Amino acid sequence: MEKQEIRTFGRRHGKKLSARQNILLENILPTIQPYDLPINTGLIMEIGFGAGEHLREISREKPGKIIIGAEPFINGVASLLSAITDENNSIRSEYKNIRIFADDVRKFLRDTDSKFEQIWVLHPDPWPKARHEKRRLLNADFLTLLSKHLTRNGEIIIGTDHWEYFDWVINQTKKTPLKISLTDLDTIHTRYQEKNKAGTKNPKYMILKN
Ligand SMILES: C[S@@+](CC[C@H](N)C(=O)[O-])C[C@H]1O[C@@H](n2cnc3c(N)ncnc32)[C@H](O)[C@@H]1O
Repeated sequence: MEKQEIRTFGRRHGKKLSARQNILLENILPTIQPYDLPINTGLIMEIGFGAGEHLREISREKPGKIIIGAEPFINGVASLLSAITDENNSIRSEYKNIRIFADDVRKFLRDTDSKFEQIWVLHPDPWPKARHEKRRLLNADFLTLLSKHLTRNGEIIIGTDHWEYFDWVINQTKKTPLKISLTDLDTIHTRYQEKNKAGTKNPKYMILKN
C-alpha cells in the first residue's frame, strides 16, 4: 500500500480475543497465507469477509477452487479461524482450500499477479457521510485495479444494502473498463446483511466484467 493511501476500514481490533483465538492467529494463520498459489487451480477472492460466513459457504460449494479472503479486522479473522478448525486446532477437511490475508487487500493485490475467476465484495463499508466519501473502497481506481486481476471471463460480484453507495459504485464503474450488469441474486446472508444498518428492504447486487 502506498503511504498516502487512505484507510477504507474502521478498525483492526475489537473485543478481547479468546485464548484459543490467539493460538489460532499465532499458529494457524501463518500456515494459510495466500502465497505460492497453485497455477492450475481456479482462484476466488472475497474482500472484507467480516466473520467469514459467505467465504465458508463458497469454500464448501467449490472444493476444487482456492478461496482467498482479505480482511484487516483481526476479530473477524479470528472468528473465521475458529469456525474452520476442529477441537485439535486443525483445519477441517472441507475448509482446506481457504487462504487468508489479514490486512488491507490493496497490499496483497499490488504484490501478486494472480487472476481470479470471481471477486466478491459484500457490504463494503458505506462511509455514508459526505466528508468520508474518500474512504469508500470501491472507487474507480480500485475497480480498475480489480479489473486487472480477473481471468478471461472473471467477474466481480458486489452486494450492498446501502442503495446510495450502490449507485455511487455504478458511477465509479463508468470511469473504468468494466461492464456492469445488475443481477437478482437471492439475498446472501452475512453478519452485516442481518444488521441491515442502511434500513433498506434488501441488498442490491451487481456483476462487473471486463
Ligand atoms: C461492513 S463490513 C462487512 C463484512 C462482511 N462482508 C459482511 O457482509 O458481514 C466491511 C468489511 O470490509 C473490510 N474492509 C474495509 N476495507 C478493506 C480493505 N481495504 N481490504 C480488505 N477488507 C476491507 C472491513 O474491515 C469490514 O470488515
